[in-house]
Amino acid sequence: MNHQLEQAKKFISAQLKATPKVGLILGSGLGVLADEIKDAIKIPYEQIPGFLKSTVSGHAGQLVSGKLNGVDVIVMQGRFHFYEGYGLDAITFPIRVMKSIGVEKLIVTNAAGGINKDFHPGDLMLITDHINNTGQNPLIGPNDSRQGVRFPDLTHAYDPQLRNLAKEVANELSIDLKEGVYVWNTGPTYETPAEVKMLQLLGADAVGMSTVPEVIVARHIGLSVLGISCISNMAAGILDEPLSHEDVIKTTESVRLKFISLVKSILTKLS
Ligand code: HPA
Repeated sequence: MNHQLEQAKKFISAQLKATPKVGLILGSGLGVLADEIKDAIKIPYEQIPGFLKSTVSGHAGQLVSGKLNGVDVIVMQGRFHFYEGYGLDAITFPIRVMKSIGVEKLIVTNAAGGINKDFHPGDLMLITDHINNTGQNPLIGPNDSRQGVRFPDLTHAYDPQLRNLAKEVANELSIDLKEGVYVWNTGPTYETPAEVKMLQLLGADAVGMSTVPEVIVARHIGLSVLGISCISNMAAGILDEPLSHEDVIKTTESVRLKFISLVKSILTKLS
């Protein structure tokens, strides 16, 4: 394990009461889920060796660990994005840290623009697969073979069993859980309508500025992944309306009860 990872692991492990087997990353406006954690230990990112600062409004910037529906979890309340100017190594460092402290399964969430015309703002979408539309990859560079193989397989990037479990839970809760392909653009601009048309032709259902680098690293190091997007708006040009970050946050916050009950029930089934 490299020095910085070792230091972060030690720093965090010393504060935990139990080993969290499940890690969660909460996207824009979805951080409220961390407020549901019982006996929460909160660790601000700036205190953790090797962690960056979260600069985006709607992202709190701390690790929260404790019990969620009786399951020991560690949650990133706020994440890092490529558009903040950080390198992908640093952005994905928390995933390596989670694995080092015992996490085996990762639930990633985000706000995304809906491309599929059957979607509506406020829908939740199970990510079935992704398209990396950036030309970037967090694994570019020397490979540490202690962490994972040089050429990781992404055939089942989003674990089929976890996806089935999420669908079962959604069914039980009568939540209309959409499914689709998430495409990663760097941002920070939203797309042009022409780009959205292109993404539609490429087979994308939703577009966002995160998640894919974290999932790539998670798969490299052998974590199983479940991904959930909150469709916070329809992507540019699908409706004749301009997009704003404020509206994105407002929509994600408006679906928080549905989102919280889905993720909590998934956790119960996982344990
Ligand atoms: N495009 C890219 N990222 C996003 C969007 C979008 O429309 N909505 C939320 N994140």
